[in-house]
Amino acid sequence: MSKGKLQKFAEMETFSNVFQYPYGVISKIPFDMKGHWREQYFHNDNPVILELGCGKGEYTVGLARLYPNINFIGIDIKGARIYTGAKQALDENLSNVAFLRTNIEIIDRFFGKDEVQEIWLTFSDPQMKNVHKRLTSTFFLTRYRHFLIDGGIIHLKTDSNFLFTYTAIW
Ligand SMILES: C[S@@+](CC[C@H](N)C(=O)[O-])C[C@H]1O[C@@H](n2cnc3c(N)ncnc32)[C@H](O)[C@@H]1O
Repeated sequence: MSKGKLQKFAEMETFSNVFQYPYGVISKIPFDMKGHWREQYFHNDNPVILELGCGKGEYTVGLARLYPNINFIGIDIKGARIYTGAKQALDENLSNVAFLRTNIEIIDRFFGKDEVQEIWLTFSDPQMKNVHKRLTSTFFLTRYRHFLIDGGIIHLKTDSNFLFTYTAIW
């Protein structure tokens, strides 16, 4: 791992807006904030919107700037990427932003029933060879159902014809 990445990881441990639960840790430590993000982290009653596979979090931070009365959580497994958005949100005092570093495969361990109003999938990897890694596959949709409200929206923004077509035929 490069020195830059190590520094980012160390710094990110001190960030109040980042929660890190990569595989391995999660099985031992339950996530106490499941079902309680609004009261325990955001301290408001506003809707919660997720960006899955947020990368550097540009979209999460951008939406948070535009909609201060909505809570946004960016989720990705890559810590060095999340660092960028998390630092920006802290520098700008955006209190309606959080980042969760984990594998989306286990996302239902972090959100309770009806806790999330909308999901954004922004330029997700098409994963042409592995349907189980595709974020719009049944595998993932089944997990999103655990916490997305009835009538909740999943937005897909993609430049991949493959992913668009695969998702649209459902
Ligand atoms: C193609 S990038 C898009 C990043 C960002 N949304 C953008 O538009 O620039 C896909 C991102 O999804 C993350 N990702 C893909 N599958 C994931 C999974 N199962 N769990 C966590 N993160 C995942 C990757 O780490 C990567 O940062």
